[in-house]
Amino acid sequence: MSEARPQPTPLIDTRKQPEPELRPQALAGERYTSRDFMEREWERLWRRVWQIGCLESEISRPGDYVTHEIGRESLVFVRDEAGEIRGWHNVCHHRGNRLVQDEGGRTGAFVCPYHGWVWGRNGELQKVQDPEDFPGGDPCGRLRLTPVRVDSWAGFVWFHLDPDAGPLQDFLDPVAREIDTYQMQRMIRTHWITLESDCNWKVVQDNFCESYHIPTVHPALKYFLDDHHASTQFDLYPNGHTRMLMVGGRGSARVENEEMTLRAFRDELAFWELDAEDFRGCSHEIREALQRQKRRLGPGKGLDFSRYVDGQLTDHYHYTIFPNLAFSMKPDGCIFLRPNPHPTDPEKCLFDVWYFTLFPEGVDEYPARSMAELVRRDDAVPHQRGKLGEIFLGGGIDEDASVFISQQKGLRSLAWKGASLSRQERRVQYSHQVIDEYLEGRR
Ligand code: FES
Ligand SMILES: [Fe+2]
Repeated sequence: MSEARPQPTPLIDTRKQPEPELRPQALAGERYTSRDFMEREWERLWRRVWQIGCLESEISRPGDYVTHEIGRESLVFVRDEAGEIRGWHNVCHHRGNRLVQDEGGRTGAFVCPYHGWVWGRNGELQKVQDPEDFPGGDPCGRLRLTPVRVDSWAGFVWFHLDPDAGPLQDFLDPVAREIDTYQMQRMIRTHWITLESDCNWKVVQDNFCESYHIPTVHPALKYFLDDHHASTQFDLYPNGHTRMLMVGGRGSARVENEEMTLRAFRDELAFWELDAEDFRGCSHEIREALQRQKRRLGPGKGLDFSRYVDGQLTDHYHYTIFPNLAFSMKPDGCIFLRPNPHPTDPEKCLFDVWYFTLFPEGVDEYPARSMAELVRRDDAVPHQRGKLGEIFLGGGIDEDASVFISQQKGLRSLAWKGASLSRQERRVQYSHQVIDEYLEGRR
């Protein structure tokens, strides 16, 4: 996809990236079903990658804390007195009880519910019952919670379970630079859903690594975007992250009925003071017209598009961060999708869905992306938990979710001998290749 006209702030590099060498990938069933494979992932993958622990905004004041589970491990993130973010393993060093049992809150210190040991926000043991009764003397001031490496980026608190890991920014390269184009720090989470799902975490991630399913799973999307692989750019980055740039602002080449495309864009065109009827017979011109109009009228609507290339105003910029984040960026919001592994069952995962909205200057109410509802800047967002199918995820993501469980069933069948991947599914192929490189100790 080329950007023909000169760009005001060419911060993002949309050029096709060099392709790494890809090896055939069978996607054997054991990757999705076996406990042994899950254990190897825990030892060699999850302990070796940077992951999101929580949002910085969740722990904005001293004493705010959040717990986060990854696999069988529980972690606590807390803002200390100096305003620094700290991370601890959520384990009391008296007899091993899980120290913090709730999802978050604010506290001056953490009190273990078993024998009442009190741990400070700086991780230091502050108070115990009967300190004189310990053979080595009072343990206070001598014991500390086990720290977890933390860092911040894009409004998220990131953690790494290996204290000797390389820097977060190196791990995220070059995706971090591209996402910095957007204003993630100003975005507010407007939906927060976690669903226990009867499928391996990679079933979910695979789905968000390919667009080959769009015509069948999302039949209405063809009127909004050009989903054909020939006009879509797929990039595979050295660290295992990927990008997909898919043309929006026009219908798919598969669409013969222009009327449907005009109907699909009617509201958006009207919002930008354009009339769909003017594009009858030339609907392929909607994309450029929208780009021009957004630049012209954006500032008056509280939206500054000067930092974006034209494609970012209409197209679908979709990323994965290895191993389990998938997100789709727009100047006014984004969707983050994260399937986390289940603590014990390889055929289950915990699927997080977060919508973020960038409220235009002076606007407190705004339509959330893909949820077709108005969200308000100051609304408290509850954490909704349930099982897959119980909570609405937005029409598009619900369509994706409708295939997860049935695919898991197929992958555990005796008849499953391996995948036949198309070239346009090579982000799936590459992700599994990188997983294997971690499991084999080559990364
Ligand atoms: S295990 Fe925490 S106080 Fe005993
Ligand atoms: Fe999809």
